[in-house]
Amino acid sequence: MTWFESMTPGSVKGTVLETDDLDEEVARLRSLGVEIAGDVQDAPWGRFATFDDPDGNGLVLQQTTQQTAQQTARQTAQLTATGSPRYRGPMDSHDWDERYQGTDLVWTATPNQFLVSEVEGLTPGTAVDLACGEGRNSVWLAEQGWAVTGVDFSAVGLAKGAKLAEARGVDVTWVEASVADWVAPLGGVDLVVVCYLQLPEPQRTAALTKAADAVAPGGMLLVIAHDKDNLIRGVGGPQDPAALYAAPEVVDVAVAAGLHVDRAGQVLRSVVTDAGTREAVDTLVRASRMTGRPGELK
Ligand SMILES: C[S@@+](CC[C@H](N)C(=O)[O-])C[C@H]1O[C@@H](n2cnc3c(N)ncnc32)[C@H](O)[C@@H]1O
Repeated sequence: MTWFESMTPGSVKGTVLETDDLDEEVARLRSLGVEIAGDVQDAPWGRFATFDDPDGNGLVLQQTTQQTAQQTARQTAQLTATGSPRYRGPMDSHDWDERYQGTDLVWTATPNQFLVSEVEGLTPGTAVDLACGEGRNSVWLAEQGWAVTGVDFSAVGLAKGAKLAEARGVDVTWVEASVADWVAPLGGVDLVVVCYLQLPEPQRTAALTKAADAVAPGGMLLVIAHDKDNLIRGVGGPQDPAALYAAPEVVDVAVAAGLHVDRAGQVLRSVVTDAGTREAVDTLVRASRMTGRPGELK
């Protein structure tokens, strides 16, 4: 009987891959953009993590107890020597193109729940969805009547967005560009959305500054991102603290751009994982550019 056959049915499933350094392998997979479902988990025989291959097949990566002990000692020594885990840098457009290969959507066609709750019911105008990925949020905005531009540096992601828009019968303008190179239209945009653009500094502040500066008078900035606390009490998202957000930092950028902060903090999002429904911790900041008298939006 193999180890996984001895587990409670349904507790872990999928093809089993053996590794002698689970944390290292998980970090490597995550740096390639692979979504590991939940945290590394303990089992009587060692530790394991689950994830899907690009075709959506469930895989289990396992490390047995003896190796776990050796690895923990090695990692402790490494951490003591370096002071922090290694950071491999953000994914570039080629990495994202690779991740978006295949017909399945990586992020589903469903819009982000906080985008929906913050924007639903607003009078539509112009909108830009920075780092729009496969376009789920751009398409939803277009369906609400917004004149949307989706910006992303992944041509493959944008092509999937265009397909989704066509299937839904809405128009979205797709722009292949790095956020750093994107130029806001003169006069600004009524709604600027930044959803899970997990960049390290200084790129993060540069991107958020560009987003905040692009908000037209009377317009709104909405930033939604994986929060730093997600590492300790949430699931999914990048596991690199350098790529994670904290609401006060986003607030600083918004205020520096002359915006009024309407809402800022952490929000919890339910995520269905192989181990059941878990919560992810997101940063949410909503800010507006006021016009007219102080305290009054256009
Ligand atoms: C986690 S996905 C989020 C996609 C989308 N906002 C959503 O919520 O479904 C992050 C996206 O950011 C894009 N991205 C990352 N860095 C970028 C950059 N510097 N300029 C433009 N797009 C970038 C990636 O291509 C990817 O599509």
